[in-house]
Amino acid sequence: MKNYFIVILSLLGITVFASEGFFQKVDESARYLNETIDTKPKLLIVLTAGIKGPLDLLEDKVEISSADIPHFPIAKVPGHEGKLIFGKLDGVDIVLMKGRYHYYEGISPQEVVFPYFVLNSMGVESVITMNAVGGIREDLDVGDIMLVTDHINLLCNNPLKGVSILQRGREFTDMSNAYDCEYQEVARNQADLKGIELKTGVYTALSGPNYETKAEIRMLRTLGADFVGMSTIFEVLSSRFLEMRVLAFSCITNPAADRNVGKISHEHVLKALNDMNPKLSDLVTGCAKELILK
Ligand code: HPA
Repeated sequence: MKNYFIVILSLLGITVFASEGFFQKVDESARYLNETIDTKPKLLIVLTAGIKGPLDLLEDKVEISSADIPHFPIAKVPGHEGKLIFGKLDGVDIVLMKGRYHYYEGISPQEVVFPYFVLNSMGVESVITMNAVGGIREDLDVGDIMLVTDHINLLCNNPLKGVSILQRGREFTDMSNAYDCEYQEVARNQADLKGIELKTGVYTALSGPNYETKAEIRMLRTLGADFVGMSTIFEVLSSRFLEMRVLAFSCITNPAADRNVGKISHEHVLKALNDMNPKLSDLVTGCAKELILK
């Protein structure tokens, strides 16, 4: 009877993930991973398409496909492989997520952030994340790396709905230091050391999967957003709920719609990300090495 009810709710597009024992699913996934590999990662690095981060430096690498982990969503977007890669960086356990999950894939907000809950329960305390964006602010060019200082949630949903309420005393998550100020300082220092130009600004995300209209970009500029993507905000909301500290970079892959000449395409976005890989990977690796010492 209960299953019929869930099927009907699903057909109506109503999220049943949280009410179906979200934390129980998290425990089952974490149990699978803990039984499969012997690791206690402190840091998660979410790699966007085309960016390798410290991948080549990892020792004792173990790759696990998300398809093998109970309850994990399956990544569907080209360039996002859907793998967890565990390994040691300078002797410390970390985990890379190669390929993220997007709300526009048609999954629920809770499914998007499910891996964060699982990895946090395995010991992850810090997250370095990154994404591709269109540059809204006039001074932003393709190839710029942005240090994210804040965000405006325009995804029109929240993964903590129905989830935070299950943990008494933690219903309302503080977002005033969402992008950790101390971690931002680490990024600025690393960028200086490596001679990498780092701009800063406010990220916003619309749910996609379309790129924005010109009028939407004018609205976003008025609202105070500097660059726009289609991801990351749910992940940062969950990370802060879980008291994980966040450092985030955005890659300007194109001027946003009202500054762009011609069409915005995923091929152009992937090409820009590939071109940015050496610089961003170097920066992220430097930050990761410093954060794991903290
Ligand atoms: N808009 C939204 N997401 C994006 C863009 C954009 O212009 N470029 C890369 N990801």
